[in-house]
Amino acid sequence: MTDAAQGHAGGVRGRAFTGYRIAGALSALLFLVLLAWQAFELFDGDATVAPERGWRAVSSEAAGDDGSGTLASEMLTARTRLQDERFRTGPAPDAETPGRGLPQDMRLEQQDIPRNEALTDAWSRPEGDAASMLHDPGRIVGLSSLPYANAALYERPFARDWRVGLSDVITHMGAIAILGMGFLLSAMLALRGRVPIRKGRSGRKVRRFGYLERTTHWLTAISFIGLALTGIVIAYGETLFLPLGDRVLGTLGWWSTWGHVLFAPTFFLGIAVMAAMWTLGNLPTKLDANWVAKGGGFFSDDGPHPPARKFNAGQKMVFWSAVLGGLVMVVTGVTLMFPFYWLDLGGMAWAMLIHAGIAVLLIAIFLGHIYIGTVGMQGAIEAMWGGDVDRNWAEEHHVLWLQEKDAKEGAR
Ligand code: HEM
Repeated sequence: MTDAAQGHAGGVRGRAFTGYRIAGALSALLFLVLLAWQAFELFDGDATVAPERGWRAVSSEAAGDDGSGTLASEMLTARTRLQDERFRTGPAPDAETPGRGLPQDMRLEQQDIPRNEALTDAWSRPEGDAASMLHDPGRIVGLSSLPYANAALYERPFARDWRVGLSDVITHMGAIAILGMGFLLSAMLALRGRVPIRKGRSGRKVRRFGYLERTTHWLTAISFIGLALTGIVIAYGETLFLPLGDRVLGTLGWWSTWGHVLFAPTFFLGIAVMAAMWTLGNLPTKLDANWVAKGGGFFSDDGPHPPARKFNAGQKMVFWSAVLGGLVMVVTGVTLMFPFYWLDLGGMAWAMLIHAGIAVLLIAIFLGHIYIGTVGMQGAIEAMWGGDVDRNWAEEHHVLWLQEKDAKEGAR
C-alpha cells in the first residue's frame, strides 16, 4: 500500500473509531440519568404501601348512612369467612352463605387515616409486646381477609422482610448493577474508544474456534439472552410496560413466563457442553495474575497486551460465571418450578432471592462480555462467527496460544 493509500485508510478508520466514541458518550449520558432515577427509587422509602382510608364501626341509626357502610361490612365479613372456609375445605366452598360480622345495629363508615405512614411503620417494625408476640413462636396464627388465601403468607414477619428484600433491595440494586454496567461500558467506549488491532490486519487467518465450540456458544448465548429478557419482563415488567397498557403487560407477561421456562433446558445443555470443552483451558495459572495486574492491556494502545494462552484471565472469569453462575440459576430455577417439593417456605424465599440476585449479576457481567465481543474490540467477533481470526489479533491477545498452535501445526 502506498503512503497516501495508507493515510486514507487510516483516516477512514479514525473517523469510524471517533463515531464509536461519540455514540459511547451519548449512551453514557443516558445511563447516568437512568442510574439517578434508580438511586432515587432505592432510597425513597416507598417499599410499603400506607393505607389512606379506613373503616370504623358506627351505629346504623347514625345520620348520613347511604348504605355503603353496611355493604362494606357485609363484604368484609363474607370475605373473611370465605377465606376461613378455604383453609379448611379447599377452594370455592358453596355451602354456608356467610352472615354479618357486625351486630345488626352497627355499620362500617369510611374515614381518612391521619398519619398513615406512621401506622404502616409500626406494622413493619413492631415493638414491645407486639414484637415478642410476632417473633417468639416463629409463626402467627390468625385469619386474613386478603382476597386469596395464599396472600396471607405475605403478612408474616419473615415474609415482610423478604418482600422488601425482593421488591426494593434486589430489584433496585439489580437495576443499578445493570444500568451501572451500561454506564461503565459506554464511558469506556467514549474515553478509551474501540480497542484496535494495533498492527492493523495482516490479511492472514488462523482458526480459533471449531464448529462444536461455536454452536455451543451460540446455543448458550441465545438461551441466556432469552432467559434474561423474559426474566426482565417478569421482574421489571410493571415499571417498563404497564405505561403501555394492561394488555401489553399481560401479553408480554404471559409469553415471558412460558419463555423463561422453555429457554432453561437449552441453557443448561449449553453450559454443560461448555464446561466439558473448556474447563481445562480455564483453570487459573500464574499468567492470570500478571494479566489482571496489567488490566489486560486494555487501557492504552502502547506496548503489548499481557501474554495469554487460549483464554486470558478476563475470559476465564466469563467462563466461570457462565458455568458456576449458570448452575446456581438452574438449581434455584428448578426449585422455583417445583415449589415446596424439597424446601419449606423460608427455603423457597431464599431460592427466589438468590435466583434474582445472581441473575442481575450475570446480566451485568455478560453485558461486559457482549461489549468486548462486539463494539469494544476490533476483530473479536470473527472468532465466534466464522471461527477464524486475523493473525495479528491472535498475536496481540493470545500470543502463547498462537505460538503453541504454530509449533504443533508446523511439527505435523
Ligand atoms: C450477543 C451475545 C454474545 C456475543 C457477541 C459473544 C461473543 C463472544 C466472542 C467473540 C467470544 C470469543 C472471544 C475470543 O475469541 O477469545 C466469546 C466467547 C465466549 N462466550 Fe460469548 N458472546 C455473547 C454471549 C455470550 C453469553 C450470553 C454467554 C454465556 C452465558 C457467553 C459465553 C462465552 C464464553 C464462556 C466464552 C469463552 C470465554 C471467553 O472468550 O470469554 N457468550 N463470546
